[in-house]
Amino acid sequence: MMSQEQKSTVQTTGHVWDDDLREATNPLPNWWLWTFYITIIFAIVYWVLYPAWPIGKSFTKGMGNNISYTAKTVDGKEVQKSTHWNMRAKLMAEMNEAQAAQQKYVAKVAATPLADVPKDAELMQFVQSSGKTLFSDNCAACHQAGGQGKVGMAPNLVDDSWIYGGSYEKINETITNGRNGMMPAFHGVLTDEKITQVANYVLSLSGEPHNAEAAKAGDAIFHGEGGCLVCHGPDAKGNQDLGSANLTDKIWLWANVPAQSTPEGKLDEVRKVITAGVSRGKMPTWGGRLSAEQIKVLTVYVHDVLGGGK
Ligand code: HEC
Ligand code: HEC
Repeated sequence: MMSQEQKSTVQTTGHVWDDDLREATNPLPNWWLWTFYITIIFAIVYWVLYPAWPIGKSFTKGMGNNISYTAKTVDGKEVQKSTHWNMRAKLMAEMNEAQAAQQKYVAKVAATPLADVPKDAELMQFVQSSGKTLFSDNCAACHQAGGQGKVGMAPNLVDDSWIYGGSYEKINETITNGRNGMMPAFHGVLTDEKITQVANYVLSLSGEPHNAEAAKAGDAIFHGEGGCLVCHGPDAKGNQDLGSANLTDKIWLWANVPAQSTPEGKLDEVRKVITAGVSRGKMPTWGGRLSAEQIKVLTVYVHDVLGGGK
């Protein structure tokens, strides 16, 4: 008896199992065959061009795609290297390239006067990206990520109120040399009552709630035996050469007046500063730690990108 399969036109090897299982000899589809050939050709080309086969302790290095890059030896000398294709050399070459591109901008920053940097759009782009990195690496811990500062820690660099001055020159000087605003403690110099009175006067200067009578007495102390005017000025607007605070704006760095909701709380904050003085206000020195160009980038970053510069 002939099975149905044997009657069909499909070519088979003639082998039959279990009466109806046949071994067919259909040709492979062309698309499959060609894909297969292409992978073989690809592999052979790859072996020739790239590092591929292990031979003992070495390997075939490949003929194409040699990479040249500059490497530093242990004693800091630069040597030109050329080697077979590998990820490490590729990375080195790319880093060299990026560095060269950066070097170009660094040189340009060095040659450009501070006030002219923002006029150069390309250079400003460099300031924005590299300034941001420098700022978050070195400054954000105190001045916060956006430069908005933190009461009791470091001043706001975004507003246009400046303790030491917001010109390019002043900002550059601040970053290079650091700052250390010092106010003596008045504990023992003025009686407690007088400290309360002068604190009321300070609050009155920025329109905070205060005792008018005490503030009047405080006015006399501020301009008299307290000697506050020597540093803060007769109009209490501060002196940028000394870094004494402007007491008439509503900006506070050491006395956290805005955080207090009651008049007593506000008075207490100001009293504390006058009693203890200010000695923790230390802006570190960056000259020597950062290059002159890095400080220049940061100066423009603070002045123009954070944007409170004058
Ligand atoms: C350890 C904390 C700290 C770090 C870090 C720090 N600063 Fe300061 N910075 C201060 C303090 C505190 C002051 C205020 C000093 C004073 O009033 O005497 C200040 C002041 C300043 C001023 C002057 C502000 C004004 O109103 O005149 C500038 C500008 C400034 N910092 C920029 C920077 C930059 C840029 C960096 C990063 C390179 C930096 N600071 C890193 C704490 C810090
Ligand atoms: C030797 C100079 C000097 C004298 C004198 C002085 N101050 Fe100050 N005062 C400063 C400096 C510097 C700061 C801190 C500025 C900074 O780092 O923001 C300061 C800060 C303050 C602050 C804190 C402001 C804030 O933003 O939180 C108050 C309040 C203040 N002074 C009041 C007084 C009063 C009142 C007197 C007189 C009894 C006085 N000062 C005398 C130099 C002085």
